[in-house]
Amino acid sequence: MSIRIAPSLLAADFADYGKAVSDLEKWKADSVHCDVMDGIFVPNITFGQPMIKALRERTELELDVHLMIADPGRYVEEFALAGADIITVHAEACGHLHRVLQQIHSAGKLAGVALNPSTSEKVLEYVMDQVDLILCMSVNPGFGGQKFIPSTLGKLSRVADMIKASGRSIRLEVDGGVTPNNAADVIAAGADMIVSGSAVFGAKDPAAAIAAMRK
Ligand code: DX5
Ligand code: ZN
Repeated sequence: MSIRIAPSLLAADFADYGKAVSDLEKWKADSVHCDVMDGIFVPNITFGQPMIKALRERTELELDVHLMIADPGRYVEEFALAGADIITVHAEACGHLHRVLQQIHSAGKLAGVALNPSTSEKVLEYVMDQVDLILCMSVNPGFGGQKFIPSTLGKLSRVADMIKASGRSIRLEVDGGVTPNNAADVIAAGADMIVSGSAVFGAKDPAAAIAAMRK
């Protein structure tokens, strides 16, 4: 199984995202994880679709857009036009999750569903045929640099079983507090895509940190 590493720009220098994406290319990241926050669904605010458009002009790396915004269906088309490759919405933020996933597919993008640490994987049951990626949050969304919540490991393996049972090819992404020290645990639990912010951009040798997590 090949593991994809998606460093989060949340931990990069906000005044120099152009450099951050060219660094990520050098460091052999697989994707760029873009954390969009609205100050309503989560207590923090980051950036929106103009940033995705600007990043698209700078890199060919996969843009993995994690929408931590209320009622994300309002913005799916705009993020697609801006150049996102994957659009992930929170199950908790959607009144009509199934419809929003259809919207993402109609826009020609891969559709992801994210679950907060306290949200049961049961919410996925009736959308398994509509998802390309499932993101299990391993911290409460809103901030980088938090500690990994261990109950996520059980959830990852339950979701991995659901994916297997579906017979579809669905990525299983984990996001929050993942470092080279616990990457093996999340991979053993079934994750095949790892988001990491501070452990990459804060590392002395970010390329080595990315390589270590992939192993
Ligand atoms: C949290 C974000 C994560 C976070 C990961 O709300 O969704 O992507 O930035 O950062 P670290 O790896 O520092 O926990
Ligand atoms: Zn994220």
